[in-house]
Amino acid sequence: MSWLLLVAPKTNQKPCAGSCQLGYSERNYTQTIGRKGAESSMKLAKRVQQVTPSLTLAIDSKAKALKAEGVDICSFSAGEPDFATPAHIAAAAKQAIDDGKTRYGPAAGEPKLREAIAQKLQRDNGLCYGAENVIVTNGGKHSLFNLMQAIIDPGDEVIIPAPYWVSYPEMVKLAGGTPVIIQTDEKSRFKITPEQLQQAITPNTRLFIINSPSNPTGMVYTPDELAALADVVVRNDILVVSDEIYEKLIYDGAKHVSIGALGPEIYERTLVSSGFAKAYSMTGWRVGWLAGPVEVIRATSKIQGHSTSNVCTFAQWGAIAALESPQDCVETMRQAFAERRQAMFDAINAIPGLSCAKPDGAFYVFPSIQKTGMTSLEFCDALLESQKVAVIPGIAFGADDCIRLSYATDMDTIKKGMERLSAFVRSRSGSN
Ligand SMILES: Cc1ncc(COP(=O)(O)O)c(C=O)c1O
Repeated sequence: MSWLLLVAPKTNQKPCAGSCQLGYSERNYTQTIGRKGAESSMKLAKRVQQVTPSLTLAIDSKAKALKAEGVDICSFSAGEPDFATPAHIAAAAKQAIDDGKTRYGPAAGEPKLREAIAQKLQRDNGLCYGAENVIVTNGGKHSLFNLMQAIIDPGDEVIIPAPYWVSYPEMVKLAGGTPVIIQTDEKSRFKITPEQLQQAITPNTRLFIINSPSNPTGMVYTPDELAALADVVVRNDILVVSDEIYEKLIYDGAKHVSIGALGPEIYERTLVSSGFAKAYSMTGWRVGWLAGPVEVIRATSKIQGHSTSNVCTFAQWGAIAALESPQDCVETMRQAFAERRQAMFDAINAIPGLSCAKPDGAFYVFPSIQKTGMTSLEFCDALLESQKVAVIPGIAFGADDCIRLSYATDMDTIKKGMERLSAFVRSRSGSN
């Protein structure tokens, strides 16, 4: 059996159609790559036993390991920009070390950074927050994890539109909650309607997660679509967390709007999660934030005080420089992503058997592989094996008829990888 099928879910069960409970809890991914068969009597907590490891991180590590071994691999698996962190941001962190900013700080973050984030949210997003509405976290991922820990009780339901970012359902489960998945497809441009949201709501619903621009589909909700969803949230008095980590990576005139800025009632029920990783190419720095009502921010601060404490102090000073300096570096990277997006989109749509909706944001395309007749795991496994191209199976995002490719890589790799992908699909359909 090949590597990818080893780390993949053990059942062939497909995600359920329509709005339903996530049927993944019984799925276990094989725990450790290369340690197949190593049994242990260690008893692990139930909470962790029902969590599936991140397939995206596993495939990305595998692609990096193959490359280090000298294999000519084209990897489209990474969810990280390939650019260096802009020099002025790195310089500010280095200066912070020289200035002795190397000690413990407040658990909720450096006051100056909390204030800078609050100002950014006012300036860019029309959200009226002060520093007390913001907590600095170890990346956007950690802000969402803390949020779940702070507001979810066992039995609470959290609504997640699919395709979803891999970590959402697992974070909900780790908090004792139940993920409730709303299925979408390419016809609806992978967006849910207010009717679907309303149908998924029960007396146990606590939270709705929205991610626009989306990982993995790159879709962006319009202001009108967001307003209609906001109405449902307010009418049913639930909370919404808006994951806006890709807000700066948006193309063809699409507009990013924060759902919480659409009126006072939705504002009161909104949390905003984001971070520096994607827009400023700061993935390894681990700086993100959560913003929202003060009670929730205080609760997450309490959790952080007993778990991670403050985010790396000098990394926070780099983040301050990122927000307070001119934003040209973000625009330069965005323009490069825009060109790569066009190249990958054109190449994929020229391959008979693949089709792909044009993404409005982030740095992913999410083509359908339905016509190939393969599951997403079979497709990705065979592609890696035969053409040395790494992509992520859609099943990791709750969509087994699609695959995700990241275009956060150089143009030469995109060209070479698309030729190999084309050769692979043609060889499978017998049309080469
Ligand atoms: C949709 C989405 N949200 C949040 C994150 C978390 O980013 P980080 O923890 O690196 O800030 C990611 C990273 O891939 C993501 O794709």
